This record gives sequence, structure tokens and C-alpha cells, in this order.
Amino acid sequence: MPHPDENADLGARVDAAVTAALTAIEAATTTAELQAAKAAHNGQGSELASLNGSLRELAPEDRKAAGQLIGAGRGRVAEAIAARQAELAAAEEQAQLEAERVDVTALPRIRTAGGRHPLTMLVDEMSDVFVGMGWEIAEGPELEHEWYNFDALNVDPDHPARGESDTFYVAPAERHLVLRTQTSPVQMRSMLTRELPIYVVAPGRVYRTDDIDATHLPVFTQIEGLAVDKGITMAHLRGTLEHLARIMFGDEARIRLRPNYFPFTEPSAEMDVWHPGMRGGPRWVEWGGCGMVNPNVLRAAGLDPDVYSGFAFGMGIERTLQFRYQLDDMRDMIEGDVRFTEQFGMVI
Ligand code: PHE
Repeated sequence: MPHPDENADLGARVDAAVTAALTAIEAATTTAELQAAKAAHNGQGSELASLNGSLRELAPEDRKAAGQLIGAGRGRVAEAIAARQAELAAAEEQAQLEAERVDVTALPRIRTAGGRHPLTMLVDEMSDVFVGMGWEIAEGPELEHEWYNFDALNVDPDHPARGESDTFYVAPAERHLVLRTQTSPVQMRSMLTRELPIYVVAPGRVYRTDDIDATHLPVFTQIEGLAVDKGITMAHLRGTLEHLARIMFGDEARIRLRPNYFPFTEPSAEMDVWHPGMRGGPRWVEWGGCGMVNPNVLRAAGLDPDVYSGFAFGMGIERTLQFRYQLDDMRDMIEGDVRFTEQFGMVI
């Protein structure tokens, strides 16, 4: 028979082991941690298991009471494990359901196909200004006859622009084909094919034998404008360009004409725009060429310059894009990097 103190001692050890086990079970926050707590406090080698093992050493008459004491302790631990196990399993299932949750009201994720190129958008935007005033869009071929590109525009055979140094001539020479150096040949094509009065804009690609750098491309885009009607004056030209400038650059935008020479306009002018949003402050920026259609050009189109007059203008789209957005390098416009394109906000 163990001394009553020994029983009290056993009771204290069971209590301590149970308390330690319950603390560990409560502290477990995952089923894996709970398994570890179970192994440490109720498994082989645990305090409770070794107390149970020591029953063998007791006198047979003491075993029952001691066994009940230890058994009750292990029972409490097992119960606590089962209860905690149920809690953790439920929490883990809930977490998994949360993680796998499907929002059936979510919008479908759209896979983008790319971005609309800012040059295309700018051509559309500028064209729209004119379409809004009742003008039409005209087109001409990029592989153009020398007559339309030069002769019909009053450019003499020995004009420097006709030199091999600026123009891509296309073999065989006797066909007199060039890659158009400007959209101005569409002026003559429009005058020869359209009913009067004529109000057209002609956006399109042009070619010059320039080396590529930050401000030059050998293939670039222009937009041409042509108005031919009775009584057209330089005031109409000015007003039209100023309207365009304000739509493009804001209400404070202005245009300025400086005398210049083009063989197909007389008088001719270089057009500058007062760009209020320019980085480093508003300033005048060279924007394009313009003038009153030269009477020789009207005559070449079979029109009587005493009855009809007209104005024409042309500007570079890449250049416009460059100063409108203060882009440092035109080469970015032709590289095809969608990250450049997407900055202009038309992702499709
Ligand atoms: N075609 C001229 C150029 O490329 C621009 C221009 C167009 C000038 C129409 C006058 C009239 O520089």
C-alpha cells in the first residue's frame, strides 16, 4: 500500500501533466500542431504514458486507484484533443472554402489584344475635327506617279526636292513612280475627281530618304487639307487652322503664319502653333506648311483661278504627337512596344 502522500503526489503529477497537455492543445492553431501536442503529451514517452507505465511497479492493491487517476487524466486530454481537432478542422475547411471561393458576380477578365497606336488615334482625332465641319476624307496611293507628287504641284524638274537625295524613286525609271514624299498629290487627285466645292483631308503615309533619329523617320505620316470653293481667302485658312489648334491643344492655343515658299501654294506660309501645355511653359512650335492653292495648280486641274480659289495645308502626325505629348524620341513610335502604345489609353 503506498503511503497516502504517494497518491497525493501521483495526483499532482497527473494534474500537472494534464494542465501542460491542455495548455499545448489550446495553443495549437493547426491540426499539424495539434498532432504534435498529442504526441508530446499523450503519446509514447509522454509524462502521462510514463505514469501509466509505472503502474506495474505499484502494489496490486494500489493499481486500481492509481490507474483510475491516470486514466481520468488521459481521458480529459483525449477529449480536449478531440474537441480542438473538431474546431481546427472546421476552421481549416472554412479557410479553404474562402480561398477557393468563386465570385459569380465578378466581371469576366478581358484578355487584351494590344493597344491602338497613338498615331492612328491622332489621325482619327484630327480627321474627326474636319468631318465635324462637313469635310470628307480623301485617299491616294503611297506608290505615286511623279506627275502627281511633283509636276502637277508646280514643282519644276530641277527643284531640289526632286533630287535622288530626298525621294525614293521606284524602278523601272521610265514608269516615273516614286514613294510619295508628301500627301499633297492627293490635292490634285481630289481636284481631278471630285465635284466642286472640295473640302477634304487626306491622312496617309509618306516616304523620304532621311536617316532615322529622334526627330526624323524615313516613313512617316502627314495629314493634308484642301478647300476649293468660290471666294476662299487666307482668312478661311487661318480660321480653319486655329479651330483645329484649339480643339487639339486647348482654348488658349493660337496659330501664327510666317511667309515661306511652296511651289504649289501662293502665298505660302509656315504655320506655328502656340502650345499652352508645353513642358517648360507655353511656346510657339512649328507645326506644318500651308498657303493659297497656286493658280497654276488650279489650272493644271482644269479649274478657272478667276472663279475658284482654295487653300491647302499639311502637317506631320509624328511631329504633332511628339510635341503634344513631349515625347523625346520618335523612334518609340515605330518600335511596336505595346507598353508605349498603352500609355495613350486605348487598350483593346
Ligand atoms: N507638302 C508640304 C510638306 O510636306 C506641306 C504643305 C501642304 C504645304 C499643303 C502647303 C500646302 O512640307
